[in-house]
Amino acid sequence: MFEKLQTFLEIDDEARSSAFALSQLLAPHFDRAIEEFYATVQEFDINPNVTHRTVPALKEKQKQHWLALFHSRFDDNFFSSISRIGVRHRDIELNPMWYVAGYTRLKMAFVDVIVRSDLHVVTKGQMVKTLDKYIAIDMALALSAYDAVILD
Ligand code: HEM
Repeated sequence: MFEKLQTFLEIDDEARSSAFALSQLLAPHFDRAIEEFYATVQEFDINPNVTHRTVPALKEKQKQHWLALFHSRFDDNFFSSISRIGVRHRDIELNPMWYVAGYTRLKMAFVDVIVRSDLHVVTKGQMVKTLDKYIAIDMALALSAYDAVILD
């Protein structure tokens, strides 16, 4: 199933090397982007489990997850992490609507970093495309874990 999804989204060697370059570009910006994300989640009062006490650990977990994703480390650890993300969000009764919208907010912050970089415009376009593919694969897998804990 995962192979099929990967092929469907055209996550090939070229996309994998673009994702790696993307992770390097984003690395210095993850902390601020994720911090702003949780600040907005709190501002909008989306879920009572996001508090000043839980945010530091969430920030770290989310950052590690993004790094594993962009490094295309699609191993058992990655799949367990994805599964946990889906299940934990379901357990805190986070409507998938917010999960999808949350991804979009993070994506907007990441696109800003790409746009403001001094990369060639064609490379910027390729990176945005890669970002889309990787977010789609991550979101699709986590959402499918909302209902099924075991991914085949
Ligand atoms: C409005 C949207 C979101 C809210 C309110 C939210 C809230 C939370 C909360 C409260 C937890 C802790 C659950 C627990 O263990 O009790 C959690 C876990 C987590 N969330 Fe979110 N989340 C949102 C969107 C996202 C998005 C877009 C990502 C992107 C990757 C993400 C990544 C994670 C990760 C990596 C964990 C840790 C899972 C683990 O324990 O391994 N979250 N989230």
